[in-house]
Amino acid sequence: NKANYRHFMAKEIHEQPEVVGQTLAHYVDMAGERIELPSKLPFDFNAIQRIWITACGTASYAGQVAKYWFERLARLPVEIDVASEFRYREAPLRKGDLAIFISQSGETADTLAALRYAKAQGLHTISVVNVSTSTIARESEVVLPTLAGPEIGVASTKAFTCQLMVIAAIAVAAGRERGELSKIEEIKLVHELIEVPPLIAATLAIEPQIEKLAHDIAKSRDVVYLGRGTSSPLAMEGALKLKEISYIHAEGYAAGELKHGPIALIDETVPVVVIAPYDRLFEKTVSNMQEVAARGGNVILITDAKGASEAAMGSIVTIVLPDMPATFTPMVYVIPLQLLAYHTAILMGADVDQPRNLAKSVTVE
Ligand code: M6R
Repeated sequence: NKANYRHFMAKEIHEQPEVVGQTLAHYVDMAGERIELPSKLPFDFNAIQRIWITACGTASYAGQVAKYWFERLARLPVEIDVASEFRYREAPLRKGDLAIFISQSGETADTLAALRYAKAQGLHTISVVNVSTSTIARESEVVLPTLAGPEIGVASTKAFTCQLMVIAAIAVAAGRERGELSKIEEIKLVHELIEVPPLIAATLAIEPQIEKLAHDIAKSRDVVYLGRGTSSPLAMEGALKLKEISYIHAEGYAAGELKHGPIALIDETVPVVVIAPYDRLFEKTVSNMQEVAARGGNVILITDAKGASEAAMGSIVTIVLPDMPATFTPMVYVIPLQLLAYHTAILMGADVDQPRNLAKSVTVE
């Protein structure tokens, strides 16, 4: 049931502090301040040369964030592809390497086919799934569950943040096992993860501001989302969420790609949502933002207090999120994107929980 919410999507957005916290609790030994995966892995991360991540839609954007985390925290190369491509491209896989499949439903046909392909090639398989009785869960070697609870809205929200939490835990465990993270570093990262659920809760408090902003978005024909580093998959996720439930055309780009084409789209009618926590890439993203502003684009900057004061430009709308350490920002910065899509869809009169042409679980190719 929807509790006191108008839509399942709203309920699921607001459940995130709780379910992300539950998921974390399943992966952390709080007393030992260390990550402890709920299942023993049948391989050693030191024997893995490459991780292959496969998923569809929103889950594939969680996979793109995972690439940054595994590469940074565990120094492990990652290939990420959407399942519909991976399953047919006959990538040369190395026996004994690791393949990770991310799926809320655990029934997505392409992701399942990709899992079967990787298994047949002799890879170890981990599935990050929300439905633990699903086919993907049953057929993979190890299941690392997200504890999001049932997700009813077609637009994936809480499953995404929980997927990120599980992946963060695997990446930290891999970094530790590979000697890339010291005990002290692991403790620091664990504390940063523990901070995520309250940060999500604090971020949800900006909903009234986002609701107002949705009026401008609802009048637009096209919306562009930009971000760098782990915020670049978020740009794609923000765009996907908006188009899927409000039917407004949106594009997500790595901010540095702007001048390779999409900047041609920018004029005074195009809102540009810039996702830029104050991190080591902030200045680069801001310079892309200035290029947009110079062409009349309406910039909506999502950042923190430091970023807002550094970027101070008269003509932009700023959404200020709480300060937080740089590594795990995607779990928090996706919240305003979900809220923006949700409120825009309501203004458009769209069926938020059951958008046209879409199924919750894509069980056919
Ligand atoms: O159940 P899955 O996680 O495998 O589903 C994958 C996609 O179909 C799903 O994330 C889809 O993109 C969502 N509707 C996005 O909100």
